[in-house]
Amino acid sequence: MSGGQQWWQTAVVYQVYLRSLADANGDGTGDIAGLRDRLGYLSDLGADAIWIAPWYSSPLADGGYDVAEYCDVDPVFGDLDQADALIAQAHAVGIRVLLDIVPNHTSREHPWFLAAIKGDPAARARYLFRPGRGEDGDQPPNNWISHFGGPAWTRMSGPTGAPGDWYLHSFAPDQPDLDWSNPEVAADFEDVLRFWFERGVDGFRIDSAHGLIKTAGLPDLSDSPTRHGHPAWDQDGIHDIYRRWRSIADSFRPPRIYVGEAWVDDPGRLARYLRPDELHAVFASALIRVPFRAEALRARIQQTLDTAEMIGSPVTWSLSNHDTVRHVTRYARPQPATSENSAWYRRQRGTGPADLALGRIRARAATLLALALPGTTYLYQGEELGLEEVEDLPDQLRQDPTWRQSGHTDPGRDGCRVPLPWSGDGPTLGFSPPEATSPPWLPQPEHWIDCTAAAQASDSRSMLTLYRTAIWLRRDHLLDAGPVTWIDTESDVLAFRRGRICCYLNTGSEPIALPPGKLLLASETRAGSMLAPNTAAWLTAQS
Ligand code: BGC
Repeated sequence: MSGGQQWWQTAVVYQVYLRSLADANGDGTGDIAGLRDRLGYLSDLGADAIWIAPWYSSPLADGGYDVAEYCDVDPVFGDLDQADALIAQAHAVGIRVLLDIVPNHTSREHPWFLAAIKGDPAARARYLFRPGRGEDGDQPPNNWISHFGGPAWTRMSGPTGAPGDWYLHSFAPDQPDLDWSNPEVAADFEDVLRFWFERGVDGFRIDSAHGLIKTAGLPDLSDSPTRHGHPAWDQDGIHDIYRRWRSIADSFRPPRIYVGEAWVDDPGRLARYLRPDELHAVFASALIRVPFRAEALRARIQQTLDTAEMIGSPVTWSLSNHDTVRHVTRYARPQPATSENSAWYRRQRGTGPADLALGRIRARAATLLALALPGTTYLYQGEELGLEEVEDLPDQLRQDPTWRQSGHTDPGRDGCRVPLPWSGDGPTLGFSPPEATSPPWLPQPEHWIDCTAAAQASDSRSMLTLYRTAIWLRRDHLLDAGPVTWIDTESDVLAFRRGRICCYLNTGSEPIALPPGKLLLASETRAGSMLAPNTAAWLTAQS
């Protein structure tokens, strides 16, 4: 922790997508024991905390974001003893543990939903069942669309087997939305928070944090009575929930924290989630959609910093996560003029091959940019190895519901979730033990043999070495360095100063001259005082 700041205001947080991190028991799926084996690696990398994607009991219809029991660990990942051991072992090496809570929806296999479809009125009241429209009720209750494509409603059979009511699912049909106006739902989740806080977890990432409360009456999208977008998202009632959650987090010693996944564009409305008695931080996801263009990056960074200043909150940065095209691949094709969403980046695979060498050079530069900014930086597992999106997975192996729900038009997010290459040249590149009984749940590209963590660890020019060096230099030079002051420079160049450290990023096609100063770190080997296209450097200013 640096002077006066809380750990979560400056941390480097490593996002663990458990299924794909490391498989200790050889069943082809990553697990808690595999993560425990890699804590030394994460500590060497300089991670202050890990955020672990949902490990609760789940049929894994959406990679665990479909929870069947919130107070247990799925056997494929381990058990509660393993969870306790992980938390203790992480704390012993100075790494905090954030879990991922999924309060907007459960799995269709959750006992509440199973009871609901058997007709138990109390269980039904935990979900959003509604009669259909039209003469036979065969039209969905409203016109909302699921985030993964198709209508946000699925019709169930009634007690006699005849078609009955519909239930709302903002995501896949396997993920029925909860009715958060039901006090029993709220009370149960408060118990879930306490359960994990008592086991020692340091906080939660809140999945779809802006979605819990829906506008009463579930109006059609065009009939929304609110002035701010969709009736299923960012509704005012949500803040009461987070005030109660905050008081629970604050009742623990040390106080626990929440980071909300809140896709709320209006800074004023986003600010409401960060009031002193609500969440500690939200994902601004500022850099994830932005092209590798100095002007666009600068504009987005400034907007994020302005919002943070306005609301007095810490800033969070990330270049990739488990829902987006890995940034090596995003940067490997012609860059869009403005920010684009992940589905757009996925569609680019149809435009021609990716220049991954260029993508990696740019990714190295972007990493120096992200790590030089004030606030918290979230790294997504594998980015420190320079992994690209695996765009050619066999269709029959794709598991992401986006693939199915989009009628096989969107390949979905499996390409960023391929199991990590750790070492050697064996069939799983060290992801699973040699005696494994099943292959990795998604196949690794053969050429990942060249970018295993072991191969990169001893290579001074590797992506892994760049990450390690940058994270440790950041600790020494940047945590207390103060706010961003932009430096006027050529177009296509982004430059700013924080205290004595200057960060330069050249997204143009010509080299630029750097000002005098001691070079702390560059994303590529530098020739003299010039900064090549697609590279970045940290300098210590002379005055
Ligand atoms: C998570 C996704 C998940 C969705 C539904 C998102 O915000 O990051 O991976 O599919 O929520 O839970």
